[in-house]
Amino acid sequence: MAIHKVLRIGDPMLNKVSQMVEDPTSAEISQLIQDMFDTMHYYDGAGLAAPQIGVLSRIVIFGFDQNPRYPDAQPIPETVLINPEIELLSHEQESDWEGCLSVPGMRGKVPRYKKIRYTGLDQHGAVLTREVDGFHARVVLHECDHLDGILYPQKIENMADFGFIEELQQHGRYSPAPCDSGHE
Ligand code: NI
Repeated sequence: MAIHKVLRIGDPMLNKVSQMVEDPTSAEISQLIQDMFDTMHYYDGAGLAAPQIGVLSRIVIFGFDQNPRYPDAQPIPETVLINPEIELLSHEQESDWEGCLSVPGMRGKVPRYKKIRYTGLDQHGAVLTREVDGFHARVVLHECDHLDGILYPQKIENMADFGFIEELQQHGRYSPAPCDSGHE
């Protein structure tokens, strides 16, 4: 088990563009992926990108059966996506609340494309491609933004829709699970 510190917004590492991974099956990358899962599980994240633990490689992980931070979300299979590419399947967008382990205790309303196809390599170097929509698409778009140095607050349209979970909840704007801010 290697749980890493998750870098927080303000750390310039989170604003950098990550590099393509040359060999997804190397021992170094396998260890990195294991550490990313350990860290994501510990913090109950829905996803994690390598730069969030200080490694500028184009790797994201995501997925959960049931996530206490997003109790209403449909399950997403645990997935490793290396050198991901995203294709839009529709130009339709929807706005919803989003959080990030690098922006602890906060939520913001972010517009995202509803339907995408993502393609990349898995941890065995095999090509993985899926067509997804809704929360699954949102999670992947959020994680892939990290690889280009973009955090979700940069994509909030109306900054009035950004705030601390406690305040949003107190004013009935957002309903998190009790452990929503547990490890954050
Ligand atoms: Ni994030």
